[in-house]
Amino acid sequence: MLKPLKKAVMPVAGMGTRFLPATKAIAKEMLPVVDRPLIQYAVDEARAAGIEQFCFVTGRGKMAIVEHFDVHFELERMLEERGKAKELAELRAQALPPGSVTTTRQQVPMGLGHAIWAARSFIGDDPFAILLPDDLMMCDVSCTRQLADAYQETGGNVVAIEEVPRDRVNKYGVIDIEKDMGRLVSVKGLVEKPPIDQAPSNLTIIGRYVLMPEVIAHLAKMELGAGGEVQLTDGMAKLLGHQPFHGLRYEGRRFDCGDKVGFLEAQIAFALKRPELAPQVREFLAKYR
Ligand code: G1P
Repeated sequence: MLKPLKKAVMPVAGMGTRFLPATKAIAKEMLPVVDRPLIQYAVDEARAAGIEQFCFVTGRGKMAIVEHFDVHFELERMLEERGKAKELAELRAQALPPGSVTTTRQQVPMGLGHAIWAARSFIGDDPFAILLPDDLMMCDVSCTRQLADAYQETGGNVVAIEEVPRDRVNKYGVIDIEKDMGRLVSVKGLVEKPPIDQAPSNLTIIGRYVLMPEVIAHLAKMELGAGGEVQLTDGMAKLLGHQPFHGLRYEGRRFDCGDKVGFLEAQIAFALKRPELAPQVREFLAKYR
């Protein structure tokens, strides 16, 4: 019997330097795409996969993220008094059940692997998902749900992967393929941000993972990898040969909201998905051809 997947870790301690000055006083995860902050898309996606417990790995100036998932009584009362039923229903749907949000602090910016290690008490002995909120997913079936379903099939570790043009592989974690089964790929090697000519493939990891708790012991060694940081990819590589490890070609689209152009494209793409906005957005876009 596989342990059920109920926990998700979301690293949100990054400084957001690429979006300065917007991120000087607010967390980059609170930047909205249309009308919802990035973090909300990640939480909704995780909930759609049956995740019930959330751990935000935070840092200074990130408390708005926690506030966002709290109940705001005054606001709710005001909406009620003004008869704003739709807005009220939306707020209530987004509040997470009491006790389901935990935060931990990373304190020092030592890399993604270090951020995940910082959540070790929350993870305990359970499998867990990781969602990097910068990677905004547009999928008919929640990307984390797709990973959770694959985990039920294969057990062990599953990461979401996609093909990227060869000249971009140095920006990602890259997998070395053991066996390509189409949707699923078994993995025999993992390398973080390899030089283009040394990449084992052009199948890259996106910011969605289902991992086994054993990865923590490897991260705890604090070995420094690419960019002089503790890399999650290196910790995961240590699991190879000991536990199942698969890549899943997820169905859907990823927007890199850690990048200005990716973030702008996400605004347009998500607005066009909204029936009440799409016609007007199409109309104004035509002006910029
Ligand atoms: C992180 C991971 C990398 C992964 C990427 C996906 O890199 O280290 O393996 O491919 O997220 O977005 P970062 O974007 O934080 O440099």
